[in-house]
Amino acid sequence: MFKIHTVVGARPQFIKAAVVSRELLTVGTVEESIIHTGQHYDQNMSEVFFDELSIPKPKYNLEIGGKSHGKMTGDMMTALEELWMKEKPNLILVYGDTNSTLAGALAAAKMHIPVVHVEAGLRSFNKKMPEEVNRILTDHVSELLLCPTPRAKELLESEGISGEKVVHSGDVMYDAVLFYKDKALNLDWQLEGLNRNFVLCTLHRAENTDSEERMTDILSAIGDLGEQVVLPLHPRTKKLLELYNLTLPANVITTEPLSYLKMIKLLSDCSFVITDSGGLQKESYFMGKYCITVRDETEWVELTENNVNFLVGSNKEKILEAVNEIGAAKGLPILGHYGDGSAGKSIVNNLVRMFINE
Ligand code: UD1
Repeated sequence: MFKIHTVVGARPQFIKAAVVSRELLTVGTVEESIIHTGQHYDQNMSEVFFDELSIPKPKYNLEIGGKSHGKMTGDMMTALEELWMKEKPNLILVYGDTNSTLAGALAAAKMHIPVVHVEAGLRSFNKKMPEEVNRILTDHVSELLLCPTPRAKELLESEGISGEKVVHSGDVMYDAVLFYKDKALNLDWQLEGLNRNFVLCTLHRAENTDSEERMTDILSAIGDLGEQVVLPLHPRTKKLLELYNLTLPANVITTEPLSYLKMIKLLSDCSFVITDSGGLQKESYFMGKYCITVRDETEWVELTENNVNFLVGSNKEKILEAVNEIGAAKGLPILGHYGDGSAGKSIVNNLVRMFINE
């Protein structure tokens, strides 16, 4: 059997891996094992996704979470190296841009095990973001790079990564929305306290949460919205709000982090989205909703260029201006940048073509 080890650790990676794992089951000669680094460890940041999305349970959990970036990445690499000396996988699959992605890619590259990167070629051009460093380094040690958009492929080519190892596969998160949408919309679940139109908001990026000023500005804008705002709280955000002693505006309903299906359901029901998440910017679009991104740059420029996503930083006036623009907008255009929902298939076909050759 051809042994694939998939390294995941953070919330969005569980969703992306679900799409590819399902496709891998159709290749008879492959044995996939999921390695959970433990980066996200709370039940509602991790386990719930495995249950809800029917992802194969991790064969190993390295239980390395809640540490500084260097320690987390280093400890993961040490543990992965030990594991791979024993298990001798033929190929390592990594997703996105987290510390788990980089640890998996570097540990594998140093052991001369081919690395395949799903969601390759994204750039924010801000190297202060840990995610930007993680993506650049991962791309440069990967032997197959699967790009969600044509632009991602071009960006890789501009960095000298080209040839048959760079493939535009489409976006696995689009596949995921198409696959799980009906199930999400049929969920028998209602958020307590939600009784009218609402805005869906998430905040967790270090660039916002680590700045009391930015958090204050964003919350102040949110407080001025005429609608309720649903804010599922990432543990990092919760901790820092307490540290800064910030009171949330009266129109905000907070919840624990929510499962994927609950988020898709809220996306379907909300007026629009305010977020600093990468994934949610696209999921908003896939679910037909405008998005205001409270960051200074975005990797998903197709959305900002087509005015379905408004990139506004943390400035209160700009956030409220974007809210007005959304109010006046006529409806979202149809964009074809993220593929046709067959990214998972394309990824597996390319794995077979380049490495497995049944
Ligand atoms: C990570 C990724 C980010 C991704 C996000 C998705 C990196 C550098 N960042 O950010 O790209 O968008 O995941 O959510 O890898 N914590 C808990 N419980 C948990 C998980 C985390 O309390 O289940 C705490 C940690 O101890 C830490 C903080 O939250 O203090 C941040 O967690 P961390 O894994 O460092 O990064 P994220 O902000 O989640």
